[in-house]
Amino acid sequence: MQRYLLVILFASAISFAAWLSLSPHISRGYGQETSAAKAPIEPLKPFMQRKLDHAKRVLEGLAIEDFELIAREAQSLSLLSLESNWNVLTTEEYIQQSSDFRRAVNVITEAAREKDVHRAALGYVNLTVRCVECHSYLRNKARQ
Ligand code: HEC
Repeated sequence: MQRYLLVILFASAISFAAWLSLSPHISRGYGQETSAAKAPIEPLKPFMQRKLDHAKRVLEGLAIEDFELIAREAQSLSLLSLESNWNVLTTEEYIQQSSDFRRAVNVITEAAREKDVHRAALGYVNLTVRCVECHSYLRNKARQ
């Protein structure tokens, strides 16, 4: 039980770090050269924020072992990644990042269906890494 709580704590810490690491990027947008460079990102904010809402609820499901909640929220994340708003970039790397993301959420859904909370928790940690990796890619790209 204690080990399990540690995993959850660790996962929350990473989520928070992901959010923090993204914040400066958000305020900068894709470079500040022109307001036009920023424009395409602004309307996406509410959409992108939904990822965080669902991810937080996956964590909630893990913490209280509510497998239905975990599976539902993980599936919502998977569906979000198929929406056109998600595909703001069409680079090979972004497509790969998106597919890695979907694979990570699918592992969580599967684990929840099998009522395997430990596998789901590890899946959540992996998912968090996916968030960080894609955002980090975006930040590096914006600097180029
Ligand atoms: C495949 C790439 C990719 C993945 C994976 C990804 N994101 Fe994002 N995220 C984006 C893009 C693109 C934006 C919007 C552009 C920007 O802000 O640079 C964004 C923006 C955000 C924002 C900022 C919204 C705002 O207010 O501006 C949040 C919060 C966010 N993502 C959360 C998450 C979470 C949580 C995860 C993981 C569960 C995640 N993202 C995974 C691509 C991704």
